[in-house]
Amino acid sequence: MTKLQGIRACVFDAYGTLFDVHGPMRKLSAEIGEKADEISRLWRQKQLEYTWLRSLMGVHADFWHVTAEALDYALEHFGVEEPGLKDEIMALYLKLEAYPEVVAALEAVKARNKLTAILSNGSPAMLDSAVRHAGLEKLFNMVLSVEDVGIYKPSRRVYRHATQKLQIHEAPSICFITANTWDAAGAAQFGFQVVRVDRFGLKDDKLPGKPAALIKDLSELAAMV
Ligand code: 2OP
Repeated sequence: MTKLQGIRACVFDAYGTLFDVHGPMRKLSAEIGEKADEISRLWRQKQLEYTWLRSLMGVHADFWHVTAEALDYALEHFGVEEPGLKDEIMALYLKLEAYPEVVAALEAVKARNKLTAILSNGSPAMLDSAVRHAGLEKLFNMVLSVEDVGIYKPSRRVYRHATQKLQIHEAPSICFITANTWDAAGAAQFGFQVVRVDRFGLKDDKLPGKPAALIKDLSELAAMV
């Protein structure tokens, strides 16, 4: 086990790290059919691409808007046209399930007297809804959205926002936890100590910035900080 030194706060990515983004399509798989998993993966991929591309293009729109446009793309690509289905899927995106170990893992981190925060692409309304639905309200000191910055991760401006809000100006005093390989690279390159949760069996990205540690799920985290 890697023991990280000098950590004062644990800052978590939200989607894919705390919340299972593939839940909505799984729940509606009877309606959507056998391609539900593939559609969900394309939806997630397009959602992320659109955040990066909008950031490069300088045309920010919030994550709700981007998520809806990515879903339009994925449904159109697979020729899914059922009326009302898109709204049903989007409504479920506001009520994502937390992964099973999340509550206990956060309680264990808090028991070590670390500050806890979310730093996510999600809009404040989306994050508020997901956090409440999963019953995580009391487990975070702060829920931070890129909407306060106007650009998506992995912009350094977003990671800097967390240091400012937490008033922890030495980046290595923050442990950033994410299941996204690109977010792990961005946060490590910024200077956070990064723990990547390998929920999807992925290799580290070939980008500047490497995670300090890889864990299978969040239950391993508290003992490391
Ligand atoms: C986040 O929560 C999109 O997973 C990413 O910021």
